[in-house]
Amino acid sequence: MSSSLPVTHYLKDYQPSNYQIDSIELTFDLDPLATRVTNVMQMTFSPNASDDRRLVLNGQKITLLECWINGNLLSAEDYDLDDEFLTLSPSLDAFELKIVTQCAPQNNTSLEGLYRTSGNYCTQCEALGFQTITYYLDRPDVLSFFTTKIIADKSQNAVLLSNGNLVEASDLPDGKHYAVWHDPFKKPCYLFALVAGNLSLIQDTYQTMDGRLVDLRIYVEPQNIDKCDHAMASLKKSMQWDEERYGLVYDLDIYMIVAVDDFNMGAMENKGLNVFNSKFVLAKPETATDVDYEGIESVIAHEYFHNWTGNRVTCRDWFQLTLKEGLTVFRDQEFTGDMLSIPVKRIEDVKRLRSNQFPEDAGPMAHPIQPQSYIEMNNFYTMTVYEKGAEVVRLYQTLLGRDGFRKGMDLYFQRHDGQAVTVEDFRNAMADANHVDLSQMQAWYVQEGTPVVTAKTHYDAKLQTLTLSLEQTLKGKVPQQPLMIPVLIGFMGYDGQPLTLMPSVQDKNSLEERGDSWLLKLTEPKQDFIFEQVATYPVISYLRDFSAPIILKTPNALPELEVLAQYDSNAFVRWESMQALALASMEQGVSAYQQQQPLTLLPSFAAAFASVLADSSLDLSLKALALTLPEMTYVADQYTEIPLEAIQAVHQFTQQALAEKFSQALLQTYESLQVNEPYRYEKQAIAQRKLKNVCLKYLAKLPQNLAIAVNQFEQKSNMTDVLSALEVLSHHQTADSAKCLQAFYQDWSKDSLVLDKWFSIQAAAQVPDILAQINQLLQHPDFKYTNPNRVRSVLGVFGRLNWVGFHQASGTGYQLLAEQVIKLNGINPQIASRLVAPLSHWKRYDSGRRLLMRQALESILATENLSKDVYEIVSRSLA
Ligand code: PHE
Ligand code: ZN
Repeated sequence: MSSSLPVTHYLKDYQPSNYQIDSIELTFDLDPLATRVTNVMQMTFSPNASDDRRLVLNGQKITLLECWINGNLLSAEDYDLDDEFLTLSPSLDAFELKIVTQCAPQNNTSLEGLYRTSGNYCTQCEALGFQTITYYLDRPDVLSFFTTKIIADKSQNAVLLSNGNLVEASDLPDGKHYAVWHDPFKKPCYLFALVAGNLSLIQDTYQTMDGRLVDLRIYVEPQNIDKCDHAMASLKKSMQWDEERYGLVYDLDIYMIVAVDDFNMGAMENKGLNVFNSKFVLAKPETATDVDYEGIESVIAHEYFHNWTGNRVTCRDWFQLTLKEGLTVFRDQEFTGDMLSIPVKRIEDVKRLRSNQFPEDAGPMAHPIQPQSYIEMNNFYTMTVYEKGAEVVRLYQTLLGRDGFRKGMDLYFQRHDGQAVTVEDFRNAMADANHVDLSQMQAWYVQEGTPVVTAKTHYDAKLQTLTLSLEQTLKGKVPQQPLMIPVLIGFMGYDGQPLTLMPSVQDKNSLEERGDSWLLKLTEPKQDFIFEQVATYPVISYLRDFSAPIILKTPNALPELEVLAQYDSNAFVRWESMQALALASMEQGVSAYQQQQPLTLLPSFAAAFASVLADSSLDLSLKALALTLPEMTYVADQYTEIPLEAIQAVHQFTQQALAEKFSQALLQTYESLQVNEPYRYEKQAIAQRKLKNVCLKYLAKLPQNLAIAVNQFEQKSNMTDVLSALEVLSHHQTADSAKCLQAFYQDWSKDSLVLDKWFSIQAAAQVPDILAQINQLLQHPDFKYTNPNRVRSVLGVFGRLNWVGFHQASGTGYQLLAEQVIKLNGINPQIASRLVAPLSHWKRYDSGRRLLMRQALESILATENLSKDVYEIVSRSLA
């Protein structure tokens, strides 16, 4: 780290701005090494509590050329300038401020601000990138009207784009041309965007429900023009869904999406001009998997939905990030559920939450969904702010019902359109629209950690009452403020028949009937719910639909789990019960391994697996999910000190044993799902491929079946099947496997997104000499440190998905990652800091690994010129 420690920013220090920017006119004279930005702002003084007249503008990594107030050129004595701020002392209450700066987009490898990608220009301003373009009040509560003029060489930059509507365009001397864009909506500068370059486009139109025609455009590099149809279809579906579900209509006459190869995140919701990582735009059956297709549909929807939740109503400050992200993720989850399958989407989201957010919330980077402080804002675009934030939004819908939630949304827009607001404003809209008190929900925003709820039952055969006690703890203690936790439950007999139980009268306030379920509202640290006239002890189906983002400890044992896995009416609980049985099987395996006993499958798990496999009434996607074992890292999460070798051995054994025991049925299922139809992105077809490839994964555990994978690979039906086959082959270092990997490279070395898959598969391979393989990938001529997707496909995958390879007892995996983080720190700090996470959980491992992981972190911390991004993550991890 450089001499001074980085500054920490606190939510409690928030103050409104003392100046407003009523309008801004930007002129960009684009040049790779010397782009000139002229920024003319109409400013007004708006005294805040501090009574300070100084105007402190943010600005970094740019060269100030000129500064004018009301047409008078200022001299260096008229202002203060340092690495981060330009401070002026204007004496007027209203004035025009003109600032001319210069920057070098060609040298910008951080991919924040104005940068180059594949020879084109593009910007990324969220969160604080606009201040690397010009001096400005770079904060989301300063909203202004933007007009942008772009001047550039015409042959290199035929397309010139910015937010809003095109108002003027014309040629200039010397082979240049220009375009002027005006955005009629006030916006914070993080939503500003500029794109220039040689791009091709596809165009379509959408008629809004109030009858306006919107011009839809997707801009891509010319070689990708055949891969835009799915994205366009997704955009139209999103527009229609938001009208139907929320009555929200698009507000400009044009909506543009630009796909770029070099992008730090998934995509960005700039007003009227979304910029996307090309991974979330480009698809055709030969190049994209079902997962890619679904990812595109949901990210297109997500960015589109931001137009209302984020842009029309934005955040007051960055501590409110979950206001727009939690809400918009919730909206895109609901959309995907409606497009494909509600229960499948729910299960997939819970899997993601558990494997990514729960560990984050239990580790050194744990923070509430409304963080109270940060050093580098970019580090807080987290699973917690996004995914747990979405779960908290979902709680409102669970509590208020869909109609109540909609009323809350309507009131939120009615009150706050055009404003920059807080999570309290959102909660108040929900509460006021439904005339309920939701103040207890506040605790979800400010307390970190995953709540643990422990359920206990007591059956009184004489009184025929069933008492269900729920007790909540947070980080092992009673939470500072108890959370409001809705727990959806149902009952059935041991024969699987549903039972209707009635709660006692005095519990009526804390309970609500929901179809064949009861919604229990846990608001106290500990609470009893009593059901009456219960003739026999029932099986209880807990946490249906995963009604709250908690860890629920139930008293259910193997017999109850077997009944639930087979009969529960709630798809989530059926899946959850299968997972619990698999987990129980693996946990007893871990004990056996530790006592050097032979490994076995738990009979009740094997029985449930058999019955799921044979169940012809089950939805194929749900079947595929139910037959998939919990990940090793999920098993690891059950232990305070992770028994890595034992988990690895047991996981391997379990897959192998299931493959052997059910080889006939798996093969039959596999073959029955071999269809000879052209690829369609459609629910039933997706489900078939999914189940088929789950079967293939088990089958490939038996050497005689590897030929099936080779055959599937060689069919080249679609990327989903090709990649699944290649993935199972990649774990075997055989001639066939090498041949297929080679063939895949030959076919796709010119398509960067597909090539990423080739890198990923090898980085995730469970092979003994994985370190050598990773080093080879890093030295491959197609590996590029400047391309985030490529870096993630090797280093992100190795650290996150190759659990066993990364955690080699020698510590070489840790060293390699640390060296690469140090290298990337100088190229792209955001990407570097995101790679650190796998090391941050060092305290959970055995003493040997713990030491080696800590040393790796310390070696990063000792690096000179460490970015704020990496410093924050590493120093917190070591604290
Ligand atoms: N706001 C973007 C989204 O969630 C994510 C993003 C954040 C992109 C920061 C770039 C930089 O849709
Ligand atoms: Zn978002």
